[in-house]
Amino acid sequence: MGLHPVGIIGTGKYVPERILTNQQLEQMVETNDEWIVTRTGIKERRMAAATEATSDLAYEAAKRAIEAAGLTAEDIDLIIVSTITPDMFFPSTACLLQTKLGASKAAAFDLSAACSGFIYGLATASNMIATGMYKHVLVVGAETLSRITDYTDRNTCILFGDGAGAVVLGQVEEGRGFRSFELGADGSGGELLKVSGGGSRMPSSEQSISEKQHYIHMAGNDVFKFAVRIMGSAAEDALAKAGLAKEDVDLLIPHQANIRIIQSALNRLNLPEEKAMINLDKYGNMSAASIPVALAEAVEQNRVKEGDTLVFVGFGGGLTWGASVLVW
Ligand code: UT7
Repeated sequence: MGLHPVGIIGTGKYVPERILTNQQLEQMVETNDEWIVTRTGIKERRMAAATEATSDLAYEAAKRAIEAAGLTAEDIDLIIVSTITPDMFFPSTACLLQTKLGASKAAAFDLSAACSGFIYGLATASNMIATGMYKHVLVVGAETLSRITDYTDRNTCILFGDGAGAVVLGQVEEGRGFRSFELGADGSGGELLKVSGGGSRMPSSEQSISEKQHYIHMAGNDVFKFAVRIMGSAAEDALAKAGLAKEDVDLLIPHQANIRIIQSALNRLNLPEEKAMINLDKYGNMSAASIPVALAEAVEQNRVKEGDTLVFVGFGGGLTWGASVLVW
């Protein structure tokens, strides 16, 4: 696409040390390990320390991605942080990250597309490089979902975790790099997954807090049905745009929300489970961080080789979705 082929030239991840297991959740809400594992595939998730905010997780992941790219922070022209759990309203988490990294030449902004945020970020960054505007763009998906999760609500608290994944995008050789992007949104489904409190519609107040409006509210089953439909179709559309077939996929890197959602996407694409990167058993759903953490782990585990065709696909609040095809 565009004048210059653009690809991922470095990856990095960071997850907090503290683990929250299903057994611990059994002590907190009316649930059990068996239900959580069979309905979601999740066994444990990470929890940020009290001293850690999203920009701290983002910093650790970004540092590693920049180093893996063989660059220094001064080489970065733009920082995009995809998150729904910024450190604060403003400055943006991307600005906070810019100063932590010492990326003094970089422009910086946050991107809000919930769990699809990382793919939205990749699309934005890759087009800015393809047109020659920038050379190196850092795209980070980072979340501290534990801060907006109600640990008395068993419908949501079993799902979410904290973490960050980062990539550096830059020019790559002809024949490699991004082949397509497919982004979408359906704002009419916004009610299904949201945090209402603390914004301009409902500023934080004693009432909003007592009503728990500062936490995630989710119509799980409706989101599930949407996810099953959109994951397969978005991935298929991205493949068609790239002029590739399902059989060409070497590794699917899906949003890690629920093993059953991933399995349905695999069925639709006629792919065996070995062709998907799955790590939600260890981390749960980290929203915008899920895909870049899964990618960084796939790289660590040598599951991606030069010339492999990767498909990223995700969905989330908004509602939003995104998919992309990349030749590694
Ligand atoms: O990144 C996007 C974020 N969101 C998602 O990806 C969420 C997508 N949705 C899901 O993953 C699933 O809908 C859930 C895992 C949230 C729920 O699974 P489900 O198969 O859709 O279950 P359900 O909501 O239909 O509930 C089935 C039963 C209910 O009991 P009754 O009414 O049948 O008696 C729930 O009350 O399971 C009960 N239940 C639980 N039981 C034990 C719900 N949560 C729990 C729990 N432990 N944690």
